[in-house]
Amino acid sequence: MIIAVDGPAASGKGTIARALAAHFGLPHMDTGLLYRATALNLMELGGDPESEFAAARATDLSQIDFGDPQLKSEMVGGIASRISAYPKVRQALLERQKRFATQAGGAVLDGRDIGTVIAPEAEVKLFVTARPEIRARRRYAELKARGLDVHYADVLADIHARDERDCGRDAAPLVMAKDAVLLDTSDLDQDAAIAAAIHAAEGKRAPTS
Ligand code: C5P
Repeated sequence: MIIAVDGPAASGKGTIARALAAHFGLPHMDTGLLYRATALNLMELGGDPESEFAAARATDLSQIDFGDPQLKSEMVGGIASRISAYPKVRQALLERQKRFATQAGGAVLDGRDIGTVIAPEAEVKLFVTARPEIRARRRYAELKARGLDVHYADVLADIHARDERDCGRDAAPLVMAKDAVLLDTSDLDQDAAIAAAIHAAEGKRAPTS
């Protein structure tokens, strides 16, 4: 069984995808990490984020430590959001994601285009979202907890900018797949959001899987 979890930045899709993977005993891939790893590579190579060619060259992730905390930084996330609009970058990362999705036994992947591009055949598709102000508040609390000196207004502006880039790009924009279940977590706490996702997935999966 393939479970596709898509949604905008800070919607809670990563937490939900990990919980679904644990619940169904499936491997999980956070596909945002591939774009973040490409961004980090590009920074380390001194490449220009404005250049699609330079960004595409940074998609060789063989030397990347996916546990590197730098991958989670706002700086890397911002560059990832810009270079993910390049078709050459998306194309270079496509095969790896498709292979993960189609492995024997199934998988859970979260990102922006899993249900539409990477695994349109997924049995379960969730589109996880929340109002921008709520997502910004959650991201702000997370950054503060990490000891970072951030302002709510900046975090909200960044969420809006990422939404605009993710939804407005030509290559695999963030859109809800026609057959996805919409899960708005604005008024749900984490446990309730996970319970709703498991319920939706149980209801969607084929009776034989
Ligand atoms: O989800 P996360 O914030 O880690 O993703 C980093 C960036 O990578 C996002 O802003 C988004 O633009 C991009 N991304 C994407 N397609 C995916 C996953 C992430 O374009 N499947």
